[in-house]
Amino acid sequence: MTKQWTPNSWRDANGIQMPSYTDAKALAGVEDSLASCPPLIFAGEARQLRNDLSEVAEGKAFLLQGGDCAESFAEFNPTNIRDTFRVILQMAVVLTYASKVPVVKVGRMAGQFAKPRSSDVEEQDGVTLPSYRGDIVNDIGFSEESRIPDPQRMIRAYSQASATLNLLRAYASGGYANLHQVHSWTLDFMGKSPWAARFEELAGRIGDALQFMDACGIDADRVPQLNGTQFYVSHEALLLPYEEALTRRDSQSGDWYDTSAHFLWIGDRTRFEDSAHVEYFRGIANPIGMKCGPSLDPDDLLKLLDTLDPERSPGRITLISRFGHDKVEEGLAPLVRAVKAEGHPVIWSCDPMHGNTIKADSGYKTRPFERILAEVKDFFAVHRAEGTYGGGIHCEMTGQNVTECTGGAIDVTDQDLGDRYHTHCDPRLNAGQSIELAFLLAEMLNEEGMRRDKEAEAA
Ligand code: PEP
Ligand code: CO
Repeated sequence: MTKQWTPNSWRDANGIQMPSYTDAKALAGVEDSLASCPPLIFAGEARQLRNDLSEVAEGKAFLLQGGDCAESFAEFNPTNIRDTFRVILQMAVVLTYASKVPVVKVGRMAGQFAKPRSSDVEEQDGVTLPSYRGDIVNDIGFSEESRIPDPQRMIRAYSQASATLNLLRAYASGGYANLHQVHSWTLDFMGKSPWAARFEELAGRIGDALQFMDACGIDADRVPQLNGTQFYVSHEALLLPYEEALTRRDSQSGDWYDTSAHFLWIGDRTRFEDSAHVEYFRGIANPIGMKCGPSLDPDDLLKLLDTLDPERSPGRITLISRFGHDKVEEGLAPLVRAVKAEGHPVIWSCDPMHGNTIKADSGYKTRPFERILAEVKDFFAVHRAEGTYGGGIHCEMTGQNVTECTGGAIDVTDQDLGDRYHTHCDPRLNAGQSIELAFLLAEMLNEEGMRRDKEAEAA
């Protein structure tokens, strides 16, 4: 018999990748404060997302999830939030227009602060210190003092998440995301990219379609979807004391929700049987994700799915694969086959970022754009071969004009990386690279859609 779940039952399981706070009293004080703070999202919104995702699971919609690898206190400002939101909207428009299916938009925003690390320590010039674990835990500065985990940081992260979400809600519903604005979403610095011209062209076609609809009496006053958009937020629920404090029971359904975000995912390092993270996730009713990397065995995946989604409800689970450009077929195909044979209705989403991180000669961590694209291509190839639906993409990207990933149409070279390398953790696609990826992905989705239509006709 499975043990009873409670918001803190994870404390008896195997918790890794979380800090040990030295001051237990200070930690308890912070947990109490957070537990009395308002929820950041409502259960009804998480249910709405679960519903939207069930359409993805059935192959009728596509999931676009993206944002920073790690949000930071230093880069918190309205321009960054607006620009990342804007690029996600642009990507969604490109994908919707090409694939003719609705795109579910989920930001890695408003709470993406805690980072798992491959090593507990970091070494610089012969000095070894504890690793940086995200601004919600410690400071990125390389000093003994900076790296001490401070529970007060959870309060600051909560407050930043709350302000970010407030702005995102305003952007999504307050007119900024109105489709009539599609022309104005273009970012100035993208002018040089051939894909900016493609976007302008597409915006023109959307404008024509809207004018035609206006003339027919279908305008934004009557169709709210034209006026705004549904935008959800997500993060890796890694720091469980924080997530537990924001876990609330929904009075309507009686179910427990993690009210720190609409969608939460378990990282590749914490998704093992009996892990504290799996224990926590099994009890929350939000839609959840799980990263799947090279070390995941198909039988273990099936056991995890039974634990996390015993009712096999479409929209509950998104499996986010991240194998690396040359390991997709070998790693993903056996998982897809096992899950299909077992009949779990999961969404398959592709994270083409985390398996493709390399160290450039200049010393910067980077990801070559061609490898990112190659992983996406192979992801669709596997789903085509297995007769399953590749239903989503998960990216680390930003609306800023950074130089963190190499390649793309405005070629970022190894030598350019130092120019605008701002990430607090992994390298992100810049705005131009994100739009380019959206166009190339749209072509792939379009081909997949046509192929599926043909097969359906022939059947
Ligand atoms: C991440 O998404 O930033 C991350 C750490 O991913 P993964 O768990 O797949 O390594
Ligand atoms: Co990352």
